[in-house]
Amino acid sequence: IDPDGVRVFRLRARAGTTEFRPGVATPTCGYEGAYLGPTLRARRGETVRVEVVNELLQDTTLHWHGMELPGAADGGPHALIPSGGSSWPTWTVAQPAATLWYHPHPHGATTAQVLRGLAGAFLVDDPDGRGSPGLPDEYGVDDVPLLLQDQRLTADGRIDEETRTAIGPLGDVVLVNGVAGGCLPVTTTRVRLRVVNASPARVYALAAADGRDLVLVGTDGGLLAAPVPVRSVRLSPGERAEVVVALTPGERLGLVSLPPDLGLLPQLAGTYGAAGTLPLLELRAAAELRPSPDLPATTAVVPPADAASAGGERRFELSAGRINGRTPDPGRIDLRVPLGATEVWTVTSAHEQPHSFHPHGVRFRVLSVGGAAPPPELAGWKDTVYVPPRTPLRLLVRFDQPADERTPFMYHCHVLWHEDQGMMGQFVVD
Ligand code: C2O
Ligand code: CU
Ligand code: CU
Repeated sequence: IDPDGVRVFRLRARAGTTEFRPGVATPTCGYEGAYLGPTLRARRGETVRVEVVNELLQDTTLHWHGMELPGAADGGPHALIPSGGSSWPTWTVAQPAATLWYHPHPHGATTAQVLRGLAGAFLVDDPDGRGSPGLPDEYGVDDVPLLLQDQRLTADGRIDEETRTAIGPLGDVVLVNGVAGGCLPVTTTRVRLRVVNASPARVYALAAADGRDLVLVGTDGGLLAAPVPVRSVRLSPGERAEVVVALTPGERLGLVSLPPDLGLLPQLAGTYGAAGTLPLLELRAAAELRPSPDLPATTAVVPPADAASAGGERRFELSAGRINGRTPDPGRIDLRVPLGATEVWTVTSAHEQPHSFHPHGVRFRVLSVGGAAPPPELAGWKDTVYVPPRTPLRLLVRFDQPADERTPFMYHCHVLWHEDQGMMGQFVVD
């Protein structure tokens, strides 16, 4: 905290090596360290300034995914930080407690930079705490961010950036906070896991290996109205979930990714990484556990999503490498939205591939999925959403942050290879 009360962070993007395989130094990138970045944390109402230093040998940007901030601080593709350069985005946190994240966004190079490890969590707290009383909130003890990245290493130990499916690279091992097959020691009867899908392409279905329910308490943009027991939580690239897991003393519980339901033709599940069960992490409960408080009956006030409040409606059709038939043009503004407006955005995929839709600078609510009410994992605040084929998603989006032509907001597919291939458009809010 500087003398003016501004919370200041420094993130140096740098190259290094990480030993994923014993004795093999894999070239990776990270912020401050060699892989991933530190968890940043700030409260609503605080002003934040981040000194971003680019010590990479290539240009980068740093985007605050899910943060409601002005376009000038958003770190999208227009905010290029040249190799050797730096930037000092500053903004005031203006949203409720949530698990957000940060990652680079240079046009055409996002997949490679994120895959090498450029990603980190950004936790927003409420002025009086970390969300709701009763939720585990001791960072690193019973409140733990988990960044998921699937990787494939080449025979000589490099990250394989060349082997790609139509949705980009799919790894054969899932790293959780940079570790494959890791374990998390647990010392309390409940643990809150803030799971970030920081993978370029893979969709997960987070679940307990023994089939017990997880308790979903939050999604991308904040806490749900009430905790909901769920068998699994689907997370497409860019999406987050907060789950609470209950453990008994001495117990070991695997967290896995089940084959996610992508709504695709069954014969395509393997092609898009939706076939097998993948181990993520083992939770290892101590022989004696400190009792956690009971879960609260309600966790947040989430107003009903009411389409009647919307001033306009727009349609987004996703197809191979395009949104509404267009490829991105940095000089073209695709949409103009009045500041303070609420709109209905209908997003439809016209073909048989997984997509994940994400607009910058906003949070939204899902009104319907293929005409039906959203399931619990889509019923709260969102900023990114899986888009199944030929199933229109209706989103209620409110635009409270300004963005001009110089640093417009993006909307894009968060399957990073699709984003790099041009499934991206830009909009101003004024
Ligand atoms: Cu997480 Cu435009 O990105
Ligand atoms: Cu974003
Ligand atoms: Cu896509």
